Amino acid sequence: MSSTNTITTQLTLTPKQKPTAEQRGFGKYFTDHMFMMDYTLGQGWHNARIIPYQPISLDPSAMIFHYGQSVFEGMKAYKTADGDIQLFRPERNFKRLNASNERLCIPTIDEQFALEALKQLLAIDREWVPSEPGASLYIRPYIFASEPFLGVAPAKNYHFIIIMSPVGAYYSEGINPVKIVVEKQYVRAVVGGTGEAKTGGNYASGLKAQELASEEGYSQILWLDGKENRYIEEVGSMNIFFKINGKVITPALNGSILPGITRDSMLHLLKSNNFDVEERRITIDEIVQAFEEGTLEEAFGTGTAAVISPIGQLKWQDMKLTVNDGQIGEVTKMLYDTLTGIQNGTVEDKFDWIVKL
Ligand code: COI
Repeated sequence: MSSTNTITTQLTLTPKQKPTAEQRGFGKYFTDHMFMMDYTLGQGWHNARIIPYQPISLDPSAMIFHYGQSVFEGMKAYKTADGDIQLFRPERNFKRLNASNERLCIPTIDEQFALEALKQLLAIDREWVPSEPGASLYIRPYIFASEPFLGVAPAKNYHFIIIMSPVGAYYSEGINPVKIVVEKQYVRAVVGGTGEAKTGGNYASGLKAQELASEEGYSQILWLDGKENRYIEEVGSMNIFFKINGKVITPALNGSILPGITRDSMLHLLKSNNFDVEERRITIDEIVQAFEEGTLEEAFGTGTAAVISPIGQLKWQDMKLTVNDGQIGEVTKMLYDTLTGIQNGTVEDKFDWIVKL
């Protein structure tokens, strides 16, 4: 780790055509430049550079391909009506990246330096930040083992890269409610595993259940805990919240759940709006009971990519639990409007979450 690194810049000679709003989708187009930095044992992080977006070359024995030593983050930049570019709680992403690094035995980065590098990259590619409502520039910082070696051990070489992609909604449903299956056969994580780290393997291991759910017409999986298969953990790429009888409940962070930055922001917004909020263990039986008693008022997922995704139906075994008649709930809508308003600069940032470029 070193904060004495300077960043060299090489600009592209062939800027790309930007996608239209219709073409954008999620994560399909990338800006003209990327940030890259290398780590060598004994030398630390070095060679920080902004270069034209390009393929990278790796030895076929690079350890990332074999043992999955990699971590990533997801964050977004927004353009305000005045044309300012702003980030949402970016320091929390770099902090979490380092927490993931620690768990995966990857050398930590200098968080302030990483933010400075991101700001420089954004300044260069600022024309790529979309301004329409619901659109943003998705930012993907990631680190992976590049050492050519087949032994199982922490690697001695890594790359840290930041790429950026102009995006619209993550789910094709947008802010319309999604249908979710509560998974019974497969699990995502166990306490003591890597569930609370943002590492690719957590997502790879979820693909099978996701594939089966898609075949049945469901957008996502709701994971239960890996030990007793009854406590609710998180949705495929989001944390989850329920509103039951006026109270908003989300599973407490227990070591196997991803500590979402959007989750944390929702908790702040709910508390500042005087909602009764609980972070605790919650079983699928409690959700079924609330549904049967008519007190399951709202359910929604939260994450950087999706922002907030209302859940219109939960399938658990043979039961289909329809939430709020399959419509977006009042609290879900309030949270979506407030959070996206803060992010886009139309709602006051009382929490000091915004970092301007
Ligand atoms: C995000 O919400 O930014 C994530 O990293 C989830 C990702 C799998 C799309």
